[in-house]
Amino acid sequence: MANAWFESVAEAQRRAKKRLPKGVYGALVAGSERGLTVDDNIAAFAELGFAPHTAGLSNDKRMATRVMGQDISLPVLISPTGVQAVHPDGEVAVARAAAARGTAIGLSSMASKPMEEVIAANPKTFFQLYWVGDRDVMAAKVERARNAGAAGLIATLDWSFSYGRDWGSPFIPERINLEAVRRYAPQVALKPSWLWEFAKTKKLPDLTVPNMVATPGAPAPTFFEAYGQWMQSPMPTWADVAWLRELWGDKPFMLKGVMRVDDARRAVDAGVSAISVSNHGGNNLDGTPAAIRALPAVAAAVGDQVEVLLDGGIRRGGDVAKALALGAKAVMIGRAYLWGLAANGQAGVENVLDLMRDGLGSALIGLGHESVDQFTPDDLVIPAGFERRLGAEIAQQAVEQAATAAPAQPRKTTAG
Ligand SMILES: Cc1cc2nc3c(=O)[nH]c(=O)nc-3n(C[C@H](O)[C@H](O)[C@H](O)COP(=O)(O)O)c2cc1C
Repeated sequence: MANAWFESVAEAQRRAKKRLPKGVYGALVAGSERGLTVDDNIAAFAELGFAPHTAGLSNDKRMATRVMGQDISLPVLISPTGVQAVHPDGEVAVARAAAARGTAIGLSSMASKPMEEVIAANPKTFFQLYWVGDRDVMAAKVERARNAGAAGLIATLDWSFSYGRDWGSPFIPERINLEAVRRYAPQVALKPSWLWEFAKTKKLPDLTVPNMVATPGAPAPTFFEAYGQWMQSPMPTWADVAWLRELWGDKPFMLKGVMRVDDARRAVDAGVSAISVSNHGGNNLDGTPAAIRALPAVAAAVGDQVEVLLDGGIRRGGDVAKALALGAKAVMIGRAYLWGLAANGQAGVENVLDLMRDGLGSALIGLGHESVDQFTPDDLVIPAGFERRLGAEIAQQAVEQAATAAPAQPRKTTAG
């Protein structure tokens, strides 16, 4: 049998492509419209170079850190994704792999496994919510997450329902019914190893989303039913974000999908404990720049008030080092672990986390550091014009206006 271990995320992706039915693979490639953003997320990392030292290096590679109230063994977390139909163990396999490698996971509202099972596999689980329904509906889901013992909450709001891809969207069935089987059959017949994984469980993927209901075990909507409810929901306001944060209480709360400095400041005002600088892996508005280009300005503005994470385009440990050098406390990975999961289940996700650790270790050695908190922009070769300062001027104007509107009170003195 061929060696199941892979040496790069690129190899895991090749194996995933071979193994998965075309539609499932296409759903993970995702992206929107022209694919500008999804491409830039990767290209921007390639534009950044390293400035390595030659001697006086250290073999200490301290990677442990603390994010969202959790001690983790490396600054790489699992970003929430709906992994419908990739692997029968789905998010439970991902949670086990993350636990085995000492890190935390974000669990998607659109996940295929109930949060109670996932949290049992890895207590360092943050439940991710989209804004679906009204405040009462949201409150009921938050209560379920609290009762299940979620370690934190992630609110993802960067979604604008754009659809259509120039390279074509995959056919994703509403349910696995006769029509779906007929349309999927030719793809599936060519992918016996994928089918065999599901056949062993005597269950086909049912494409329901069990975390979209408030009661564990209640009948769950299908992915598309849930998507329909989401589309019809009113768009959340900043007051809703503050309300959700308050409702959740003292445990950590992340706002995911922040790209602009002015929004980062609003997130701080809403009381969040962390943000992820993210463009939803290039799945939201196409033409949004790579998340790594927006990171430095956001980190400079709010990095001393909240934890700033980054996701989008991380495919190797060196990318993690680049993000930390530009101000991120940690990164979250999406497709990288999905390719690992597709290629080799739980072991494949562990394999990807090990590749991240090894690559980050090489960056630590080469750049002459002992610990992941020592990376700085001086470690990098940053081409002119690399950065994008989204909303930075507006944020600055707001600060100046606030200063003029409320002039500083003259300091009281005890004398005379
Ligand atoms: C197939 C797929 C499904 C996703 N589903 C979700 C989701 O349910 N919730 C969420 O907050 N983000 C979701 N995302 C975005 C990821 O959490 C993350 O922001 C993105 O994948 C990071 O980019 P990367 O894939 O280049 O690492 C999804 C991304 C992909 C590729």
